[in-house]
Amino acid sequence: MSITAISVAAYIVASLLFILSLAGLSKHETSKSGLTYGIVGMGIALVATIALVIDKVLKPELDLTWLPVALLAGALIVGAVIGFWRARIVEMTGMPELIALLHSFVGLAAVLIGWNGALEGFHADGVNPADVRALTNIHEAEIAIGIFIGAVTLTGSIVANRKLSGKMKSAPLMLPGKNYINVGSIVVFIVLTAVYVSRDTHGDNTSMILLGVITALALFLGWHLVASIGGGDMPVVISMLNSYSGWAAAASGFLLSNDLLIVTGALVGSSGAYLSYIMCKAMNRSFISVIAGGFGIEAGPAEDKDYGEHREVNAEAVAELLTGAKSVVITPGYGMAVAQAQYGVAELTSELRKKGVEVRFGIHPVAGRLPGHMNVLLAEAKVPYDIVLEMDEINDDFPETDVVLVIGANDTVNPAASEDPSSPIAGMPVLTVWEAENVIVFKRSMAAGYAGVQNPLFFRDNSAMLFGDAKDRVQDILAAMH
Ligand code: TAP
Repeated sequence: MSITAISVAAYIVASLLFILSLAGLSKHETSKSGLTYGIVGMGIALVATIALVIDKVLKPELDLTWLPVALLAGALIVGAVIGFWRARIVEMTGMPELIALLHSFVGLAAVLIGWNGALEGFHADGVNPADVRALTNIHEAEIAIGIFIGAVTLTGSIVANRKLSGKMKSAPLMLPGKNYINVGSIVVFIVLTAVYVSRDTHGDNTSMILLGVITALALFLGWHLVASIGGGDMPVVISMLNSYSGWAAAASGFLLSNDLLIVTGALVGSSGAYLSYIMCKAMNRSFISVIAGGFGIEAGPAEDKDYGEHREVNAEAVAELLTGAKSVVITPGYGMAVAQAQYGVAELTSELRKKGVEVRFGIHPVAGRLPGHMNVLLAEAKVPYDIVLEMDEINDDFPETDVVLVIGANDTVNPAASEDPSSPIAGMPVLTVWEAENVIVFKRSMAAGYAGVQNPLFFRDNSAMLFGDAKDRVQDILAAMH
């Protein structure tokens, strides 16, 4: 059997493993095996690709040097070293930025592959002369589309990375006529692509200038699209860029005639699109309104409201409240990740359960900074899966709950979302923690959450603030309980 045939078989096996990986990653219980399938699939894909290149180099009739193999090996080693190093040192709170950065690499690769395809031109050897024109047009359409999606992903992901790491303000950029700018850019792209593809001469200076303008336009659009979205809508942006990076990879797959890249790109593209849909549903937003809107802009007039006084509580009083409670719900948020409080929270959970207190977790779909953020942290700290519930599963139980511990969550427990139609986050479903008998909020100050909106929960009669770093305060409660 030839190496090419073996590689095709290996690509099919790798594609199947990627599908199994996605299926596995969709549930807590199977997520580890999902990861393993993904790693094995990627390993097989890499080995098959390297074998294909070596096989080509070994064919005397192609008269190739070992340079492609050396380049591949060099890229692999440099990529693996940087990948291992970054993944080892990244904090869980830095994960969303890292993911955004990785998406930007996929975008950059798609742009480079597109330009390479344009500079190389269409290889017409062995093609029926009657088909050359049509196939050249298809090749050029693939180039323009690949470069466009890749460039949008590249700059969009860089902006997302900077917004998530706090290097750029998360508030949306509101250029006048921003929707016209977005729609106009897409229309200009379609027109330029039609001109680029339908020209009689290919690969000349005019073609390259057209492609240069398409690239610049797409780089601008990616930057503008993500810069214009802010605050509470960032979860949708992250999953949207995930989807774009998949389509960019699929476009490169068409250009390189690589089936595995097409399949993998389509898997990432469609799963990212579905994740965007889930995120939109979680925020009660339509996809179009996310792109067009300015959700989570600075908390306009609501900020001037007088919410009254907040009440403070200390760790000893919380320990007493918890030991006397029958049912406790913990709703973690981004602050738990910042404080790395999940281990203390897991210990507190097991202590309370030993005392016969029912403890459950309520997880908001966009709590933290990346999908599933809280679930990963709790799983890391070995909190049993069966007491970790989703927002829809727990929301009806708050009226019968004695104590809710809001650990570093803010926007996801903000009653203004459901009670104040003028709030910038109005309409976003939230955990209705205020319906419980007692709510203890762990945070360091009265500062607003990610969306920049004040939270009236902190001023409710049944709420009390436990100020300080969440990890330290949880340890204080544990100490007071012993
Ligand atoms: P946030 O609204 O981000 O609030 C987190 C709170 O944690 C802050 O108010 C902060 O208050 C507190 N905090 C920070 N460090 C702390 C520490 N060491 N100890 C104790 N508290 C600490 O949290 P959330 O409820 O999880 O909401 C998530 C937000 O992020 C939503 O707006 C969501 O749309 C957005 N977002 C989500 C995602 C995804 S996919 N999940 C992606 C991007 C953006 P202090 O500063 O006063 O301590």
